[in-house]
Amino acid sequence: MSNKTFDVIVIGAGPAGYVCAIRCAQLGMSVACIDQGSDEKNQASPGGTCLNVGCIPSKALLDSSHHYAILQNESNEHGIECKNFSIDVSKMQQRKQKVVKALTSGVKGLLKKNKVEFIYGTASIKSAKQVEVVHEADTASLNAGKIVIATGSKPFELDFLPIDQEQILDSTGALDIATVPKHLGVIGAGVIGLEMASVWSRLGAEVTVWEASDKFLSVVDKDIAALGQKLLAKQGINTQLNCKVLAADKKAKNISVTVETSDGETKTEVDKLLVAIGRVANTDNLNLDEVEVSKDGRGFVEVNDRWETNIAGIYAIGDVIGGAMLAHKGSEEGVALAELLAGQQGHVNYSTIPWVIYTWPEIAWVGATEQELKANNIPYKSGTFPFMALGRARAMGD
Ligand code: FAD
Ligand code: NAI
Repeated sequence: MSNKTFDVIVIGAGPAGYVCAIRCAQLGMSVACIDQGSDEKNQASPGGTCLNVGCIPSKALLDSSHHYAILQNESNEHGIECKNFSIDVSKMQQRKQKVVKALTSGVKGLLKKNKVEFIYGTASIKSAKQVEVVHEADTASLNAGKIVIATGSKPFELDFLPIDQEQILDSTGALDIATVPKHLGVIGAGVIGLEMASVWSRLGAEVTVWEASDKFLSVVDKDIAALGQKLLAKQGINTQLNCKVLAADKKAKNISVTVETSDGETKTEVDKLLVAIGRVANTDNLNLDEVEVSKDGRGFVEVNDRWETNIAGIYAIGDVIGGAMLAHKGSEEGVALAELLAGQQGHVNYSTIPWVIYTWPEIAWVGATEQELKANNIPYKSGTFPFMALGRARAMGD
């Protein structure tokens, strides 16, 4: 691969990068897409965080745990008697990995079919026209007409809680737990915290979630958030708002978590502790400071409405530019940017990005919430329809 020249080099093969690379190729450009692998287990496996250690494995475990919860809590009511059923977490994890493998292999096939050269290695930008790729002892220098940064995001860490993926986990570790924990502690009642809390609580773990904000799911419509909080509590997820985790002392078999709440300090023993307090841009190894690509105060790569950075010929899309950190948002940006690079019109309507939190019931929305409309003095009409009155929901027992 040494000294090859491409019209476009895309760094990162997540939902933003691989989609952009394929669309560029479909529009006649020669394209390379470079990825270093999202974690040690999933090397040379395109699909980024989403396919390897994000959306897909989490949804696979949510599905498995949902089946178990139905057997345990609802089968009797349906006249189905289930005796002697049990959980095999290792089999569940194998199924999850099979789903991931099928999808990442599919992306590899798509890249090949569209004549995108997929390169496994760590990329750094040497100039607006040159990218260096390192893989083990090999180093290659590639020439680029344009460079697209699509390197995604990584979990935000707390200084006093280094992730070891054994006792103190980030989302990658929480997706890989080998046996159901007795007590799972979760810091952050956000999207990851609640989805992972759902998985492990359905499978039998006691789950305690500590959230700093005094509001539950503040990005969600207020009424829906209140209902969500009530239903998750009913499922056994104990969420404490307005609290601050001060320390976590690791012992041989468990962790003692000290939390400051409005009632004073409490100590809780858990055997696994998940830190899920948001994600930050992943710009490690890219050499951005050297080539003077601007980042905002929170470390996201700054772009204009055509995804151009301050350096001509270098673009950025996906989680690395911030905004909604969602796979489909990154893919939309990938398509739109490819079309702009081909001289066509490319556009993303950021006010129509759908969100789904895959708890049960799932929480989904698109566009502004009622509280946002109110805050911005935008006139609106509201309407509600209770699930209780919906035939399908009744039939499903929900
Ligand atoms: P990424 O998917 O992060 O891909 C970036 C790629 O760049 C990675 O493969 C990385 O290895 C590579 N890379 C980084 N630096 C370099 C370098 N220097 N050289 C070479 N390669 C490099 N979103 C949804 O829409 N729905 C969901 O249900 C959902 N569930 C999620 C569940 C979890 C547990 C997590 C963590 C995230 C979830 N997300 C979900 C968010 C989604 O995963 C991200 O929004 C999406 O992956 C962002 O895509 P991206 O292409 O910008 O970056
Ligand atoms: P998040 O932003 O959704 O939630 C983080 C939560 O942690 C917030 O409620 C925040 O108030 C809280 N918090 C922050 N600091 C804290 C502290 N020190 N102590 C206690 N609480 C603290 O971030 P999360 O859950 O890490 O997910 C990151 C992103 O990944 C999401 O915003 C979403 O974009 C994406 N994602 C999407 C999914 C989906 O679409 N279904 C599923 C999972 C992730």
